[in-house]
Amino acid sequence: MPDDVLLAIESTCDETAAAVVSRSGRVLGECIATQEKLHERFSGVVPEIAARAHLERILPVIDTALREAGIGGRHLHAIAVADRPGLAGSLLVGVVAAKTLAMAWQKPLVAINHLHAHLYACQLSRGPESVYPAVGLIVSGGHTTLYLCHDPVNLEYLGGTIDDAAGEAFDKVAAMLSLGFPGGVEVARWAARGNDRAFSFPRSKQHDGSDDFSFSGLKTAVRYAIVGPGRQDFSTLQLSDETKADVCASFEAAVVDVLVAKTRKAIKRCGVQRLLVGGGVAANQRLRRDLAAAAEQDNFEVVIAPPELCTDNAVMGAIAWKQIDRNDFASLDLDITPGLQR
Ligand code: KG4
Ligand code: ZN
Repeated sequence: MPDDVLLAIESTCDETAAAVVSRSGRVLGECIATQEKLHERFSGVVPEIAARAHLERILPVIDTALREAGIGGRHLHAIAVADRPGLAGSLLVGVVAAKTLAMAWQKPLVAINHLHAHLYACQLSRGPESVYPAVGLIVSGGHTTLYLCHDPVNLEYLGGTIDDAAGEAFDKVAAMLSLGFPGGVEVARWAARGNDRAFSFPRSKQHDGSDDFSFSGLKTAVRYAIVGPGRQDFSTLQLSDETKADVCASFEAAVVDVLVAKTRKAIKRCGVQRLLVGGGVAANQRLRRDLAAAAEQDNFEVVIAPPELCTDNAVMGAIAWKQIDRNDFASLDLDITPGLQR
C-alpha cells in the first residue's frame, strides 16, 4: 500500500492546528497556533475570542503544514477535521475550512471525534504494536472522561465530569492564587513544595459507584479555605508562600486521588490490562506517579501520550486513517456537535 498522506485539522478549543500525516504514521508537516496570551487575562478560554482567532489563523496554519510537508492540496488522500466535542464557534471554523478544501480539491472528508483522537495519541507513541483494548482517561482543560476502548474508533463511554473538568479546576485555583493562565503547571509547581494534608478538601463522588467526576465542589472548597464564603475579590488576597503551597498540594492531592481511584475501579471492572491517558493534565507528575503505583499494585500497564501529543494538536488526527479503513467518511453537509462526550 503506498504511503498516502492526509491533512488533519484541529480547532475544538483554543489551539488552531493542522498536520500532514501519512498512513504509516509519519508526520510530514505540522503547525499549531496557540491562543494562551489572548485568554490569559480572563483566566479561561473566552469562546467568542477563540472563534475569531481561529478564523484569522486557520488558513495560514494549514498552509504552513502543507508547505512543510512539501505537498499540494491535490496530492492529499483525504481531509480530516475534529467536528466534536468542543466550543461551537471554534469547531465551526475548522469544519468549514475542511469542507471548503475538500470541495475545492475534490477530496473525501473524515469527521474525527476529538476525544477518541486524544486517546489515539497513545497508540501513535507505540508504533504498530496495538494498545487496545484498554480503559482510556482523558484529562484536559475541557474534559475528564473515561472510556472502554475496544479499538481506536470503537469506544464505549463509561463516565465523565458532571461539572468542571480537572484542568479547569486547576486553572480556577491558579486564578484564585494569581498564578497565571493556564495554571495547571504553576499549581503543580507550588504543590511540590506544600503539605498535601494541610487542608482537607473533598474527594467528590469517589465512592459513589459511578464512573463520573465532579470538581466544582472542590473548587468552592478551595475558595472558602482561602477567602471564606461571600468574598469574591482575589486580587487583594495576601497569602504566605507556605499557605499557597499547602493549598496547591492539598488541592492537587484531592484531584489526583479521585482520578486514580475511579480509573482503577473502571480497569478492574472492565477486565483490561492497559490504561491510555491523554489531555494536558496527563503532564501532572503526581498523577503520573500515583497511576504508576496503582498499575504496579493492580498489574496493568499505563500508556501516557507524549507531552506534545497530550495537549491539543492535529497529529492525533491520524486516527482518520482508521476511519478511512472502515469507509467512515463524512458528507459535505457535515455539521458540528459541540456537546458530544460519548
Ligand atoms: O489538553 P489541553 O492542552 O487543552 C485543553 O483542554 O484545551 O489541557 C490544558 C489543561 C489546562 O487546564 C492546564 O492547566 C492543564 O491542562 N495542565 C496541567 C498541567 N499541565 C497542564 N494540570 C495539572 N498539572 C500539570 N502539570
Ligand atoms: Zn483536547
